Amino acid sequence: MSALQPGDREALHRVLHARRDVRSGFVDTPVDDERLQRVLAAAHTAPSVGFSQPWDFLVLRSPDIRDELAALAQEQRQEFAKSLPAARARAFAGLRVEAIREAPLGIVVTCDPTRDGRHVLGRRTQPRMAAHSVAGAVQNLWLAARAEGLGVGWVSFFDEREMAALLGRRVGMPQHLEVVAYL
Ligand SMILES: Cc1cc2nc3c(=O)[nH]c(=O)nc-3n(C[C@H](O)[C@H](O)[C@H](O)COP(=O)(O)O)c2cc1C
Repeated sequence: MSALQPGDREALHRVLHARRDVRSGFVDTPVDDERLQRVLAAAHTAPSVGFSQPWDFLVLRSPDIRDELAALAQEQRQEFAKSLPAARARAFAGLRVEAIREAPLGIVVTCDPTRDGRHVLGRRTQPRMAAHSVAGAVQNLWLAARAEGLGVGWVSFFDEREMAALLGRRVGMPQHLEVVAYL
């Protein structure tokens, strides 16, 4: 395997260092399909246990569904705030933890723990490897989005079962899928 040319290597490191979790400053310009395809294609190049590629990406452009998801996240945010000591709760009140409505689209990244059947190399001994593979795909997506000038933030203020049920009702998400990330 040959090393990248110096300019390419530096570009890679610039992207790695420039990636940020973005929660503000979104504009409502739609993300065009070509850029989105490049970003999703980058996610698909991630390594995966037994090359099972257990991920799927649900692209949510509909503001209605994102409103419903934002309401779920808001409930969890309030629950978390209640659990904090007063000083931490005050600091948390001023913290931005999501931009579900402000972003022009959301991407739900799921893990199919059954992908490719029962005999996936490496997953039998360590089932969690499927979800770890999906986390790698998320990172690829995040970096490729940064290269495109698209802000991405990871929102984990969800009760996974509530979220999966909502996505099942609204977009038919199969219920054996696990939600790994909302971006
Ligand atoms: C698994 C995971 C879950 C995260 N969940 C949230 C979240 O719910 N809300 C949020 O504002 N940031 C979330 N973040 C972003 C982290 O806060 C952020 O990555 C960290 O502060 C470092 O900042 P950077 O990504 O800009 O380098 C999450 C990041 C990861 C990797």
